[in-house]
Amino acid sequence: MKKMVCAAALATCGAAMAITDAEIEKLIGEMTLEEKVGQLVQLGSAGKEGGPLSQDATGVALPADVAEMVRKGEVGSLIGACGVTNFNAFQRIAMNEARVKIPLMVGHDMIHGVMTQAPIPLALACAWDEKTWQDCGRLIAVESPAKGCNWTFTPMVDMCRDPRWGRIAEGPGQDPYLGGKMGAAMVKGIQSKAGALPVAACIKHFAAYGGAEAGRDYNTVEMSESTFRNVYLPPFKAGVEAGALTVMPAFNTLNGVPCSVNKWLLTDILRDHLAFKGFTISDWCGVSECELDHHGMAETHAGLVELAMDAGMDQDMMAGLYRKELVQLVKDGKVPMAQVDRSVRNILQVKNALGLWENPYIDEAKLKAQIDLAAHARQARAIAAKCCVLLKNEKDALPLKPGVKVALVGPGAEDCVSISGTWSAYIENKFEMTLPEGLRGAGVTFTYTPGYDWQKGRADAKALKAAAKEADVVVALFGQKGTDSGEGWSVLDITLPKVQLEALNVLKRTKKPLVAVLINGRPLAIPELAEKADAILEAWCPGTSGGGAIADVLTGKVNPEGRLTTEFPVSVGQLPLYYNRLRTGRPSDVSAPYCSCYRDGPHQALYPFGYGLGYATFAYANELVKVEGEGNQRKVVLSCDVTNTGKVAGVETVQAYTRQMVGVESRPIRELRGWQKVALAPGETKCVTIEVPVAQLGYWLKDRFVPAAGPMRAWITRDSVSGKTLEFRL
Ligand code: GLC
Repeated sequence: MKKMVCAAALATCGAAMAITDAEIEKLIGEMTLEEKVGQLVQLGSAGKEGGPLSQDATGVALPADVAEMVRKGEVGSLIGACGVTNFNAFQRIAMNEARVKIPLMVGHDMIHGVMTQAPIPLALACAWDEKTWQDCGRLIAVESPAKGCNWTFTPMVDMCRDPRWGRIAEGPGQDPYLGGKMGAAMVKGIQSKAGALPVAACIKHFAAYGGAEAGRDYNTVEMSESTFRNVYLPPFKAGVEAGALTVMPAFNTLNGVPCSVNKWLLTDILRDHLAFKGFTISDWCGVSECELDHHGMAETHAGLVELAMDAGMDQDMMAGLYRKELVQLVKDGKVPMAQVDRSVRNILQVKNALGLWENPYIDEAKLKAQIDLAAHARQARAIAAKCCVLLKNEKDALPLKPGVKVALVGPGAEDCVSISGTWSAYIENKFEMTLPEGLRGAGVTFTYTPGYDWQKGRADAKALKAAAKEADVVVALFGQKGTDSGEGWSVLDITLPKVQLEALNVLKRTKKPLVAVLINGRPLAIPELAEKADAILEAWCPGTSGGGAIADVLTGKVNPEGRLTTEFPVSVGQLPLYYNRLRTGRPSDVSAPYCSCYRDGPHQALYPFGYGLGYATFAYANELVKVEGEGNQRKVVLSCDVTNTGKVAGVETVQAYTRQMVGVESRPIRELRGWQKVALAPGETKCVTIEVPVAQLGYWLKDRFVPAAGPMRAWITRDSVSGKTLEFRL
């Protein structure tokens, strides 16, 4: 029965199922042990560096070692987009020359786009819009086959509460509900079959990787099972329910056991609790990182393979340990054939869900017909503008007035790598990517004077003053290079470097209106900017149409509607910092003698979760809460009137939060339960209603789900620190 369920579940992702489960079972029955193990192996598509090439039947030059392994059925998937020609050539070998015809998958990290880069995921999250997220996934689905790839290792749905961790850039931020919505939408977009060949998504990194102690990448993760199930697991649950075909276990240990060999995680939670039906692919050499002088889980590689197979790791990315050890382990009876068959079945079912037996090849004519790079550039620009977050806007600094003369200063204005950000596999479909191109395209009169570096040296005060003197307004870039976040980029210091603060002071002294634009892949501690700039636009790493997007917001062509999904601290000393924290037993007012606060600074965020401004202003009134329905059908209905009290049309993101006042464990002071974006003309009022199923309000107490009950509070408001407190009972 389970086998049939697998195929049916995988079929829900909308893929054609070319062969039946019975045919898959027959195939498994025909495969030799070596061929089965081959399916559990992922190796690089480029093969051994500098290795010989071989001509395939059609004259395509392939890495000879990879071609031979495919021909022998010794590899189930390749990592590294290999281009359409090589993809189809490898596939022809797999389907025409190998003894058993099993198509390949080729995976790559198309995280926020391919030729066209949308903003980094942490920026995408700020759109608070499922269609935007799905559109980004669809963009990846359409462009990935053009690079010879039908599998992407995205979306990353790791919750993160500590921006010292560089990979915060790759994820949805710190809220499980929003993170789940974003992950599910991206899975649906990626697996929409919109491209020349269906593409598989991969939710990662399973799990709790973003909880690395002290924000140090790959570091230990220790947390209660309740916190794991209430905060870090829900986005994976949402991704699995959206039909994600693959899951990538994380590098880190979770409460002492590395995820790659963690049976509780990969079997009890992923398979039994989440009912995941696809296959697990290790992270890069994740299995071998469990060896003696790393995680120390076994004395030998064979011991690691036993553990990983028993835990439920289906495919080994690049470690080569399954390739080296597994056949003998099965022959010695140390790994049951049933475990090998289980993993082979998971992999074949995913390949079948992708319709690969029906059509294993990338149709180049279809590719050309589908990929409209100009349209994709326009789409990326609209997404990037929507993801900008206006953090401050005083003295009417923004939008820029028509005809105004701008002095653009600072690093990164023409730095496409920074503008595109981490995991930009390609930066090709550039359209007004740089800021000068964007401002020029918007018809803005400006000069550009770098004036200071991201980090090095001193600010060129003379040049900055001269530029400001000739201008009506200064637009100054601050932040971090796009490569200074992402994998392996944890940092101790998230303040602006001295040279940037020096430039800020020089510019402040010119007394010209000062608009700061942030280019960065993580929240930064920017109290000086908050004090001295008249306006601050968080543009993140906006992608290959980033310059135009920023110009659209600066000129008011686009009214910024982005809202933060993580918190900006005042100081790194506050970290970890997150809005859905528990109350303490003490006052948090520093005037109280024994308060839960800091004596040398605030404990609140500089800019909190859910925060963002726009060019319009909004007023809330008539906030109401009621419980409707009976039993399990009960729902909490939150409503309010929202009025645009500004002079221009705008979009407000109305957010619903609740708090359970009494729990078996203490519950967070707020938890996001839903949101609604509402477009309002100047002076217009709309009643906004957000319904929250009562069933959604419960929480996990270790492995027991506790329905919400007793006194509750709710807010329907603009961000995680505002709003009228509403009381109700369940
Ligand atoms: C990396 C990352 C993972 C990525 C994989 C393949 O180390 O942890 O996110 O998908 O390797 O590149």
